[in-house]
Amino acid sequence: MLDSGEQSVETLLEVNNIEVIYNHVILVLKGVSLTVPKGGITALLGGNGAGKTTTLKAISNLLHSERGEVTKGSIEYRGEPVADSSPSELVKKGVIQVMEGRHCFEHLTIEENLMTGAYTRRDGGAAADLEMVYNYFPRLKERRKSQAGYTSGGEQQMCAIGRALMSRPETILLDEPSMGLAPQLVEEIFGIVKNLNEKEGVSFLLAEQNTNVALRFAHHGYILESGRVVMEGPAAELRENPDVKEFYLGMSDEGRKSFRDVRSYRRRKRWLS
Ligand SMILES: Nc1ncnc2c1ncn2[C@@H]1O[C@H](COP(=O)(O)OP(=O)(O)OP(=O)(O)O)[C@@H](O)[C@H]1O
Ligand SMILES: [Mg+2]
Repeated sequence: MLDSGEQSVETLLEVNNIEVIYNHVILVLKGVSLTVPKGGITALLGGNGAGKTTTLKAISNLLHSERGEVTKGSIEYRGEPVADSSPSELVKKGVIQVMEGRHCFEHLTIEENLMTGAYTRRDGGAAADLEMVYNYFPRLKERRKSQAGYTSGGEQQMCAIGRALMSRPETILLDEPSMGLAPQLVEEIFGIVKNLNEKEGVSFLLAEQNTNVALRFAHHGYILESGRVVMEGPAAELRENPDVKEFYLGMSDEGRKSFRDVRSYRRRKRWLS
């Protein structure tokens, strides 16, 4: 979907050098900048506690409920500061977050869950969109009368993405879709994300620990470590980058944990040789 040619690509989301502090004291993001272009799949990568979820919540304006605050920098969606809109106003503007851990309503059926996603809609198009969601997620159609709490982890992840789609978003902020799922299901879900991107034109900002799968499906990637972007680039380039391969794609068995470790390992190697 993303036009990688010479034409300029429209920017939807611009995160500019943000700092986030929890509880007035815990500095978690230390100057994060990123851009989400229209029609792209952008991956935000990094290990446990790197700051991926915090970045997504800062964008969708969900930090207040966790006593988190953007203390420096700016975030704009289509040139407007997101801080001026409530999370539900942002949904109306086209930005929706699918939370880590899915959060389906356990006692509602899959179909009822999906319909809750249309609550911001005033155009009466929910029935047609339900068919659109079932088209992309045939499993959800099969399970539409089942209580979400009794469906599998993969089906709940699909339900959470499907529910977000019911608001007809322009951009989905998708937090760790692969979490806790078997590799085959992860492939299936990423395949559907790719389809939604290509056929419906939905743009994605995707937070993932699973660098391997994310870089195969994304167009562009950012790698976060301890609240800082340590590397960014086109996904194809990151996949071929020796440091990314060595640390994030597990093509080494040395047990290094970060770019910082990789650098000190290189130094050690030089000293020893
Ligand atoms: N509500 C909170 N209050 C205080 N600290 C928090 C809060 N939420 C997150 N943190 C801290 O902020 C840092 C970044 O957390 P965040 O959840 O953004 O990381 P992440 O990259 O999404 O990690 P994971 O891959 O484990 O989901 C961590 O050190 C975490 O402990
Ligand atoms: Mg997270």
